[in-house]
Amino acid sequence: MRRPEGVIQKRMKKLFIKTYGCQMNAYDSARMADLLAPLGYAGTEAPGDADMVILNTCHIREKATEKVYSELGRIRALKEEKEKSGGRMLVAVAGCTGQAEGEEIIARAPVVDMVVGPQSYHRLPEMIARIARGAGERVAADFPALEKFDALPEAVSNTGVSAFLTVQEGCDKFCTFCVVPYTRGPEHSRAPERILAEAQALSSRGAREIVLLGQNVNAYRGTDMNGKDWSLARLIEALAGVKDILRIRYTTSHPRDMSEDLIEAHGGIEKLMPFLHLPVQSGSDAVLEAMNRQHNADDYRRLIGRIRDKRPDMAFSSDFIVGFPGESDQDFEATLQLVRDIGYAQCFSFKYSPRPGTPAAAAKKQVAEGVKTARLDILQKLLLGQQDEANRTAVNRTMDVLFEKPGRNSGQIVGRTPYLQPVYVDAPTALIGSVRPIHIEALTANSLRGRLV
Ligand code: 5AD
Ligand code: SF4
Repeated sequence: MRRPEGVIQKRMKKLFIKTYGCQMNAYDSARMADLLAPLGYAGTEAPGDADMVILNTCHIREKATEKVYSELGRIRALKEEKEKSGGRMLVAVAGCTGQAEGEEIIARAPVVDMVVGPQSYHRLPEMIARIARGAGERVAADFPALEKFDALPEAVSNTGVSAFLTVQEGCDKFCTFCVVPYTRGPEHSRAPERILAEAQALSSRGAREIVLLGQNVNAYRGTDMNGKDWSLARLIEALAGVKDILRIRYTTSHPRDMSEDLIEAHGGIEKLMPFLHLPVQSGSDAVLEAMNRQHNADDYRRLIGRIRDKRPDMAFSSDFIVGFPGESDQDFEATLQLVRDIGYAQCFSFKYSPRPGTPAAAAKKQVAEGVKTARLDILQKLLLGQQDEANRTAVNRTMDVLFEKPGRNSGQIVGRTPYLQPVYVDAPTALIGSVRPIHIEALTANSLRGRLV
C-alpha cells in the first residue's frame, strides 16, 4: 500500500545512556529512555552512533565525578567525528554531578549541550526542542519533586525479573560527609496508589522481584487519596498482595528510621526477603557523632538484635567510611569490633572523600591518604572473610533461588538466594522468572554453584 503523500517516515534516532553510581540512577536512566522513546529515540550500546548521549552521573565521591569528565573527553572526540560527516550529537549530563555543578560543567566541558538534575529530567524533551531552536536555558537543576513523577510516562524499559521501583527520594539527614541532601534534595515520598500501579505494570511485564528504592527508603511516608499516611511497612504489605510478585526488597535504609512496624514486617511478611542493607559507616561513637549519624554503635547493635529476634536468619550488609576527619586508631578499632560483633553477609567500604560544600570537607583534622589506604585494606580483609564465611555456610544447603537471566556459560542460568547470593545452575532458560529449590554444591569466587533438586 502506498503511503499518503506528505507523510514522512520518521527516522529512528539513537540514544546512548551511560549510568554511574547507585541503583536509583539505574532506575532514572530507564525512565529517561521511556521519556525519550515517544520522540523517536531507541537505545544503542555504541556512543559513536548516537544522536543523543546522556551521562547519568554520580557525585558521591571525587572519583565518581572525575570519571564523568574523562568520559566527556571521549564523547567530545566522537561528537567531532560525527559532525565531520555531517551528523549531529546532543550531549546531556544528568544526575547528581549535573545538580551539583550545573553551568560549571558546560564551562569546563563545552561539548555538553544540556544539564539536568535528578529532579528535573522530565524536562528533557522540552530542552531538546529548545536546543534544536538554539534558544533558552541549558541547565535544569531545581527541585520540583512533586512535578517529576506526574510528568513521567509509565515505566516500560525497567523490566527484568528483578525490577527497581523508586518510592522515595531525597534525604533530610545531612550526614556531614554526604552530598546527597544537596544533590537529591529534600525527602519526598510517592503516593502509594502510584507505586502499586507501577508494581502491577512491572509484574505484568515479567518482574517477579521488586526492589523499592529511596535514598532514605525506610523514611517513606506516602499519603494516599484519602489523606492517610502509609509507612514503608504498610506499603510492603500491600505490595505483597500483588499477584506474581514473589519477592520484595528495599534499599537504602537509615538505622534511625527502622520503625517497629518495619521490624515486625520482617517477621511476618514472607515475600519480604531476609536481607537488609543498613549502613552504619563507623563503629566509633565519636566518629558517628561527628558524622551526624544520630545514633551510636550500641544503638545499632541493639537494632540488629531486634531485627534478628523477628527473623533469626536475617543477613545484613552495610557501608563503611574509613579515614573520616579525626578518626583515630582507636576509632578505627571500634569499627573493626562492630564488624566482628554483627557479622555481615556483604559490605561496601570507602576511603573518606572530601566533598565540596559538605561540613566534613572543611574539618581541620583530615586523615592522611596513606592511613586511609592502610585502614581500608584491613577493613576489607575482615569484611571479605565474613562474606566468604556467609557463602560457605550456604554450601550443602537447599535454598530457594529466583532465576533472573542466562549465566555466563551456555546451558547455565543465574539467580539469587533470599540472601542475595548469586547462584549458577545448569538448567533451561524456561525457569527464568521462577523460584526453585536449589541444592548448593560449591562456592566459586563470589558466587555459588548449585543443581535443581
Ligand atoms: N566519602 C566516602 N564515602 C562516602 N559515602 C557517602 N559520602 C562519602 C564520602 N564523602 C559512602 C557512604 C554511603 C555510600 C553510598 O557512599 O558509605 O553510605
Ligand atoms: Fe547521605 Fe545517607 Fe546520610 Fe542521607 S542518610 S546524608 S543519603 S549518608
